[in-house]
Amino acid sequence: MLTVDEAILSRHSVRAYLSTPVSKAAIEHILEVASRAPSGTNTQPWKVHVLQGAALQRLSQAVLHAFWNEPEKHTSDRAHYLQKWRDPYLSRRRKVGWDLYDLVGIKKGERERTQQFHAKNFEFFGAPVGMIFTIDRDMGWMSWLDYGMFLQNICVAARGQDLHTCPQASWGNYHDIVEKELGLEEHELVHVGMSLGYEDINAPQNSLNTVREPLAQFATFHET
Ligand SMILES: Cc1cc2nc3c(=O)[nH]c(=O)nc-3n(C[C@H](O)[C@H](O)[C@H](O)COP(=O)(O)O)c2cc1C
Repeated sequence: MLTVDEAILSRHSVRAYLSTPVSKAAIEHILEVASRAPSGTNTQPWKVHVLQGAALQRLSQAVLHAFWNEPEKHTSDRAHYLQKWRDPYLSRRRKVGWDLYDLVGIKKGERERTQQFHAKNFEFFGAPVGMIFTIDRDMGWMSWLDYGMFLQNICVAARGQDLHTCPQASWGNYHDIVEKELGLEEHELVHVGMSLGYEDINAPQNSLNTVREPLAQFATFHET
């Protein structure tokens, strides 16, 4: 059994998986554990669509078709991050992107190869399990915060089963296709996707080492 710190610290975003299947019991266990996340007034604003096998392939193919043939037609229905990027967020974003592409041998300006790598998002990076999370459109920002706690719980609980994850905002750009393929209800907004599976430790992209700001940069202790 991993300690809490070990589970948190061994989590990282995995972008290549083994084809080894994940048992339904393991998926159910992770989601049930994760649902113990706190939420304001216990609203539990999460809903998850778990995809495997033919269902995963179908969604993947539909989105990949749009990604390669008509990307300009598909955008997220809300801003994912900053409308206008600024530092320090911009430099952190650039660093993780360059570090990742460097590991897989993609050089700056190699647009086709960059796109090919990005497209792997829409195959859940080869994971046998993909999850699409939805939230009611009219939920306020506190419920989005609840959702983050639930998602992090999934990432950490997955470690308890020797599994890895990658949260994926990229699915939001193709929300219209996801809505159609999964038959989502009108009120369900595609929040984020997540890959789940066993890590391919030989894939170079999985050796990405992301840095964090030192504690003193983001924490202020008020004592007197
Ligand atoms: C909400 C959210 C959305 C993300 N979307 C993507 C994505 O679409 N594709 C991807 O490859 N990584 C995605 N990531 C992974 C981040 O790039 C990653 O968490 C960050 O670089 C830190 O690395 P680590 O998770 O390995 O610690 C996302 C992470 C979060 C929390």
